[in-house]
Amino acid sequence: MRDPCPKPHLLQILAAQSVGNRCFGRTAPTPLSLCAAKASLGVGLCGQNPPQRGSLDSYGRERMTDWIDQPDAHLNPIVAEAYDAGGSREQQPEFIANVVEVLADLADGGSVVEFAIGTGRIAVPLTEAGVSVSGMDISQPMLDRLNAKPVAANITAIVGDMTSTVMGEDFALAYLVYNTIMNLKTQDAQVECFINAAKHLKPGGRFVIECGLPMLHRLTPGETIKPFNVSEQHLGFEEHVDAVNQISISHHYHINGDRVRTNSPSFRYVWPSELDLMARIGGMELEHRWEDWNRTPFNGESTGHVSVWRKPA
Ligand SMILES: C[S@@+](CC[C@H](N)C(=O)[O-])C[C@H]1O[C@@H](n2cnc3c(N)ncnc32)[C@H](O)[C@@H]1O
Repeated sequence: MRDPCPKPHLLQILAAQSVGNRCFGRTAPTPLSLCAAKASLGVGLCGQNPPQRGSLDSYGRERMTDWIDQPDAHLNPIVAEAYDAGGSREQQPEFIANVVEVLADLADGGSVVEFAIGTGRIAVPLTEAGVSVSGMDISQPMLDRLNAKPVAANITAIVGDMTSTVMGEDFALAYLVYNTIMNLKTQDAQVECFINAAKHLKPGGRFVIECGLPMLHRLTPGETIKPFNVSEQHLGFEEHVDAVNQISISHHYHINGDRVRTNSPSFRYVWPSELDLMARIGGMELEHRWEDWNRTPFNGESTGHVSVWRKPA
């Protein structure tokens, strides 16, 4: 019979220590077992029970079996509080200005709805640019951060699920950016999101998604983890855990002086071609696909895409 508490992989130790996105010092982690780590913390991500673990993978590590049901990391107030200080490329003012310019252009004077509006990274400057913005998000802590911003008084933002909540049916544009379609961890949920986006649009209205591409082709045979960012403030590793359900985990290590905050959310990665079929199910057709917000043509080397689908006029 196998040890119910086998020796964990380093990432699992770190993940267990970071459950609930706790901070810990940069000293080397004690080689405590995963079970002991869980027991000592007593809680999982967002204060709920940690994910159950099942069989061993080919490295003898316990395999996570419920990444699909893992609650969204942004429900955690600690994640919400740290969100605006993330320091990623997508949070830089020049990057945001580009996004706002493209979205305002596509809205063409009409009102817009943001799916998963978050803390208003895009909604706030888009409102300041004169566009009427509404939005929904599943996380009250993220909306609390948005509502603390002065311009939020001009934004209608509600707690809602982008797969089912309807905020109106006459928007010129719905948008879902920053890879957030992948926060929906089943194909069904992603399809429901497209159908719901189409419901929000007036005839001729547009749905925009910004998303990174799956980078499976960068893995050598047998490999499951690749770094995607190595900088002084942030280490990021993408781990591919479930090719059948298209689930990967982004392991983040945010470094602040001698403190490290970790977070390991799971995602359902999705190809542009699959998204086009989802759009078709929602009654929309592809209008544009760029590789970035500069409207650079999409090609085989692109690492991400900005796609625009349109409801018939
Ligand atoms: C990466 S953040 C993006 C926030 C914002 N759109 C931005 O660009 O900064 C992902 C957001 O998706 C929200 N979210 C996740 N699942 C959701 C769902 N089913 N419905 C609505 N919001 C959701 C999270 O709460 C979080 O605010």
